[in-house]
Amino acid sequence: MKSAPWWREATIYQIYPRSFFDSNGDGEGDLAGITSHLDYVKNLGVDAIWLSPFYTSPNKDGGYDVANPRDVDPRFGNLDDVQELIAQAHNRGLRVIADIVPNHFSDQHEWFQDALSAGRGSKERERFHFYDANPDGTPPNNWISLFGGPSWTQVEDGQFYLHLFDSSQPDLNWENPEVHADFEKTLRFWIDLGVDGFRIDVAHGLVKEDVLKDHPDPQGLSNALRLDVAMDSDKRNALLLTVPYFDRQGVHEIYRKWRKLFDSYGDRQIMAVAEAWVHPPINATRYVRADELHQVFNFDLLTAEFDSKTLFDVIERSISLNATVDALPTWALSNHDSPRVVSRIGGQEARALALFVFGLPGSTYVFAGQELGLPDGQVQDWQRQDPTFFRTHGQIKGRDGARVPLPWSGKTAPFGFSAGEPWLPISQSWENLTVENELADPKSSLHMYRKALELREKFLVGAGGITWLESTHHGSRRDALLAYSRGDMTVVMNLSDLPQEFEAVGTLVMDSGGTVEAHNGKKLIPPRSSAWFLA
Ligand code: GLC
Ligand code: CA
Repeated sequence: MKSAPWWREATIYQIYPRSFFDSNGDGEGDLAGITSHLDYVKNLGVDAIWLSPFYTSPNKDGGYDVANPRDVDPRFGNLDDVQELIAQAHNRGLRVIADIVPNHFSDQHEWFQDALSAGRGSKERERFHFYDANPDGTPPNNWISLFGGPSWTQVEDGQFYLHLFDSSQPDLNWENPEVHADFEKTLRFWIDLGVDGFRIDVAHGLVKEDVLKDHPDPQGLSNALRLDVAMDSDKRNALLLTVPYFDRQGVHEIYRKWRKLFDSYGDRQIMAVAEAWVHPPINATRYVRADELHQVFNFDLLTAEFDSKTLFDVIERSISLNATVDALPTWALSNHDSPRVVSRIGGQEARALALFVFGLPGSTYVFAGQELGLPDGQVQDWQRQDPTFFRTHGQIKGRDGARVPLPWSGKTAPFGFSAGEPWLPISQSWENLTVENELADPKSSLHMYRKALELREKFLVGAGGITWLESTHHGSRRDALLAYSRGDMTVVMNLSDLPQEFEAVGTLVMDSGGTVEAHNGKKLIPPRSSAWFLA
């Protein structure tokens, strides 16, 4: 029998290199810092690491502004350091996923510099989206950047170029075959160096339609696309159906080609996961059709409220939509673009939700620091680095809070992260959240994560689908319990503020906090906690 590919139910640990561990005291995490902490990662029980970009970059958008996609930024090290990291990861049985950024380059990339000097009408400009101004001098259309402000910037000779993100991130023109060839070269470059897969940044954005047409409600659209702007959900969903630059049919042709490239490496089982924020949700499954990519992120849990109806709906929908293309869902509670789950729903709730989700079929992503139960860091306005903050003139604070470096050891900030001044401040209030501290405390979040991932690997990976347990209704927001069984495991979460009785099958093997007690022949599940029972 052919065994399932490694990624199908993998747990993948996302590392933001700048914030993981600083090996040389310049205040910024680096590749050598990651390599020296791979035992920690391995002991967590994950299968792979995903590294956010470490390529040559002026770092206007945390490295997602790539100036040379086939080299390493000196702040992180060099190509030898990547090779060493991969070798050390592989020695420990950990796969390595790189982040590829095909929607745009940095304006410092030589292609863009060439486009500037070659001037209007040149073939160098055809690699991007350069257009003349309207007769009245305004930009070619009224689109708004996802980071705020116009999505066009004018160059000296009067032409404008398109950038869905920062003005330092010109969008590439995927109608140009040179762009295709260059990215295929980049994919091969990293695969040949040893990486096992790719996270594809803005995977739904590569192909644009109607680049010269105005959108009827650009500000509404821009708000709808931002998770940090509140909006009535019907209104949001209606606007999301009108995005002219996301989720066009053409992107799928690109991934079909990439899939062939990945498959040409045969046994190495190169995988790719799409970052594709699309609407309606069924559209996400197109990215994981048999001849396209392997996984697509499911972002629902990054915004879901801690109530039984929302969580039931999100989980059920994700499982059933993926089943239509014979894929398994992915789960993520945090990443580098959203508030940390602890800050969003609370510490106890975050543990309960993590334990509940770890039992589910599919692949789970853990954002470094999540296992420690870190909240967002406190960042003052003068310390902010996220371009969103600047482009919205401070109206939107941005994503720096989730990117504060990790606390490792000792009693004083920056807790062993760096011998120097960290690039974002680590609060002294994180004293009890260091790796050292949590390793010593059997009740810590870190211990919960380690145990859950160990039991998951042993009893749940490959155990098939879930069965929701009838007794828990899951019909209304106020239901106290959500529960399912999968294989020999029963997983229950109490979302309420009171202990709840639950008729458990099997023995308690772990919980997310509090003490599960026997009661009237049943089990009493503590408030805002989850538990696993093994038959
Ligand atoms: C993705 C990245 C985000 C980045 C953006 C532009 O959404 O996750 O961090 O700012 O793309 O590259
Ligand atoms: Ca460093």
